[in-house]
Amino acid sequence: MSESDNLSTEEIARQRDAFIERFLGYAAGTFNFFAMYIGERLGYYRALALSGGALTSAELASRTDTHERYAREWLEQQTVAGILEVEDENLDVSQRRFHLPPGHVEPLVERDSLNYIAPLTRLMAGAVRPLDALLEAYRTGGGVPFSDYGSDLREGQAAINRPAFLYKLSQEWLPAIPDVHARLMSDPPARVADIGCGYGWSSIGIARGYSNAHVDGFDLDEPSIRLAEENARHHNVTDRVHFQVRDAGDPALAGQYDLVTAFECVHDMSDPVAALHMMRQLAGERGTVLIVDERVGDTFTAKGNDVEWMMYGWSILHCLPVGMVDPPAVGTGTVMRTDTLRSYAMDAGFRKVEILPIENFFFRFYRLTP
Ligand SMILES: C[S@@+](CC[C@H](N)C(=O)[O-])C[C@H]1O[C@@H](n2cnc3c(N)ncnc32)[C@H](O)[C@@H]1O
Repeated sequence: MSESDNLSTEEIARQRDAFIERFLGYAAGTFNFFAMYIGERLGYYRALALSGGALTSAELASRTDTHERYAREWLEQQTVAGILEVEDENLDVSQRRFHLPPGHVEPLVERDSLNYIAPLTRLMAGAVRPLDALLEAYRTGGGVPFSDYGSDLREGQAAINRPAFLYKLSQEWLPAIPDVHARLMSDPPARVADIGCGYGWSSIGIARGYSNAHVDGFDLDEPSIRLAEENARHHNVTDRVHFQVRDAGDPALAGQYDLVTAFECVHDMSDPVAALHMMRQLAGERGTVLIVDERVGDTFTAKGNDVEWMMYGWSILHCLPVGMVDPPAVGTGTVMRTDTLRSYAMDAGFRKVEILPIENFFFRFYRLTP
């Protein structure tokens, strides 16, 4: 018998009302999320921030090449939601001016900031794009291809990790692994393989931080690799950074690398053991394999740790279904616990999996030793 079997009628009514209140909160959050997606995609937040003050709906519409009536509805929604502020709500509708509170500018528009979290809205819109295919996958046990999630998911993923990859990876994370840092600084130039590199920001971040290093980025997804090449050109690192469309487990992957990295991608793979096996080969006896993945708890608990509410969210909509595409898939999901990674690594021929003492709210850093 569970504890709930003993609840009185009043307690059940209280539980019901509390749940309804929470449920309505979810609805409000969802409306806000998609309204923020509109603001991000149409450049509304950027226009408001660049104005340096407040804008009317007509001014916002003209600066973003959008329609005044829609801009006005969005401005009012954002104000009621507490994301924007109105200067004088009693003015005539055409005269009302809206602004971004100063503390909201960095999370919404400063794309180099570590506090820039607006890309979550694109990730979320991407994650729900293939809803019908997703339901079908739940019924059949099949998967949903990464490409079905479209450019919102790709771009959201790239933009959310970009500041950390450009401004922390080579400045804090790799220097915290002294032998790897020393090798990346030294001659002959170190070689790095970056598996599942997406738009290439981790590869570019390493190349920018270590002016000697050569980085090869690999990803299954062709559109991501094309964008990675464009990003490398923009950052003037094409002499040392190259990208290729490749499955991480592809036996044709060859070479000898001093460092082999995989950022937030092992949990997405249908066959992570094959990928880790290949990474072990690329690193040889002397190279280092670094896996950076989600900082989830060691076991399932009803409450979850402080990031699992988010990781389970991505998992049910995106990471588990993309990892179920190629049968026989192991079906990891975003919540890849340390023991799960350890068992994949052992199956791939590694002897040791070490958690590195690098602090990060979302990521855990694993060093795998052959
Ligand atoms: C969540 S994204 C992470 C991208 C990037 N590393 C980052 O942290 O922003 C996962 C990436 O892994 C790639 N991927 C998944 N399975 C792969 C495989 N078997 N081989 C190569 N890339 C793979 C996907 O195409 C996608 O770009």
